[in-house]
Amino acid sequence: MQQKNINISYSEYSSLSELPDDERLLLEKAIDATATAYSPYSHFCVGAAVLLANGEIVTGSNQENMAYPSGLCAERTAMFAASVQYPGVAMRKIAIVGKNAQGQLCPATPCGACRQVISEYQDLAKQNIQVILFHNYGKVLVLDGIDSLLPLRFSF
Ligand code: THU
Repeated sequence: MQQKNINISYSEYSSLSELPDDERLLLEKAIDATATAYSPYSHFCVGAAVLLANGEIVTGSNQENMAYPSGLCAERTAMFAASVQYPGVAMRKIAIVGKNAQGQLCPATPCGACRQVISEYQDLAKQNIQVILFHNYGKVLVLDGIDSLLPLRFSF
């Protein structure tokens, strides 16, 4: 038996303004998308923005339902919309941000199901999908692919 470790690396930016232009724009689009959330049950808004290989940006937000499991996260709303609007076009980056009931921006790291969906679109893209996360105290984390969020992910 051998003990093995998986290391996860990411870049941490001290503020949104420190980000490269394209990533800052994507995160700003995700922030804007929080305004389109339908979240009367959790009162937690999430915005996501996907940058495609053709330069288009598609946004999404969480859409809840009174039959709770019928709702969908912002990330999957955005990725599925991108796949419908631009079929076959590779996804390059996704930015994600939350907004609490007080209207403050806060972290929204993707749930397990969303990580699996990012994983499959990354396989289709044949290139890593960069994940840009608004984090505590206005910091921004940038992960250079889904393996940092979903080690030992399912793929075939
Ligand atoms: N939610 C997202 O949209 N994305 C995440 O990454 C985590 C959670 C949504 C689901 C639900 O509408 C609300 O946030 C509270 O869990």
